Amino acid sequence: MGRRIRMKVLSKKFNPHIYISEKVKEIKNMIGDDLAVTALSGGVDSSVVTMLGHKALGNQLKAYFINNGLMREGEPEQVVAVFKKLGVKVEVVDARSKFFSALAGISDPEEKREAITQTFYKEVFQKLVKTHQAKYLLQGTILTDIEETAAGIKRQHNVFAQIGIDPQKAFGYRMLEPLIDLRKDGVRRVAKALGLPVAVYQRMPFPGPALSARVIGSVTPEKIDLVRKVTLIVENQLRKSGAFQYMAILHNDRVTGMREGKRAYGMQIEIRCWDSLDARKAYPTKLPFSVLTKLADKIVAACTEIVSVTYNIASKPPSTMEAV
Ligand code: XMP
Repeated sequence: MGRRIRMKVLSKKFNPHIYISEKVKEIKNMIGDDLAVTALSGGVDSSVVTMLGHKALGNQLKAYFINNGLMREGEPEQVVAVFKKLGVKVEVVDARSKFFSALAGISDPEEKREAITQTFYKEVFQKLVKTHQAKYLLQGTILTDIEETAAGIKRQHNVFAQIGIDPQKAFGYRMLEPLIDLRKDGVRRVAKALGLPVAVYQRMPFPGPALSARVIGSVTPEKIDLVRKVTLIVENQLRKSGAFQYMAILHNDRVTGMREGKRAYGMQIEIRCWDSLDARKAYPTKLPFSVLTKLADKIVAACTEIVSVTYNIASKPPSTMEAV
């Protein structure tokens, strides 16, 4: 089925405007006179869903940005501002302590992902849906999320029904997933057709578990602060690289380095920068060596805890794009 849909989406006949009007109709029919809740992360998938929901439901749609403490620098404010311009009111929910408590002491990658999922869906969304007596959570799950989860590669944070979990039973509400038949390239075309700004429709993917997917081992607010600081440097330096996605990963192991002539048992950052079409396969971008060394210089200058910076040169597969 996925293959057939992909053919449809990527064929020249795919018309994002027709897609939009069909999806708007579908959402209207499903929600009727009820309210629906949507959680917006600012990524292209959730932005498209929010705009489709807004077109279909107007004030019947309640849009939230969940501040889980794991987002990038300035992200909550930026997302709210972008959608304000588009006429969509987005409320920020401060859930930082909930997420950090759920992640405390967990270092296994799939357990970390599960903790994030449960906190989002059981703790945060459930309360929002109940508050509004909404039946549905509108969310931006796409085909690639399902494929990787179903294949047992990585538990994507937003996949349930497709792997046999009934959201109604597990969390007490249903999910409406209008983008389930698209991959990232299709979503970007719909985003553009919806009039979303270029910064949104060309926005680099960012995972649901956010910066916790970029910390190997247990997650603490301090480690997230460090990886957030490095992420800003990496994103600024590689913005013009044309790559599909780039990121900084904080390793768990320390290595010996030196600072001010003294031994420093410091932390390690791994840079990943990927060329990819749809995230199913990915190849390390052939960045000029001068770009890499400049990046390393900036990172070790800004973060005294870090003494080692490496660049990943393996492809996906067998690598995955995120480290967790
Ligand atoms: P991986 O690491 O699986 O990543 O090769 C493929 C693409 O998916 C993004 N990613 C996620 N997106 N929820 C998401 O919405 C998740 O749990 C998740 N995990 C990974 C990743 O950033 C890359 O673009």
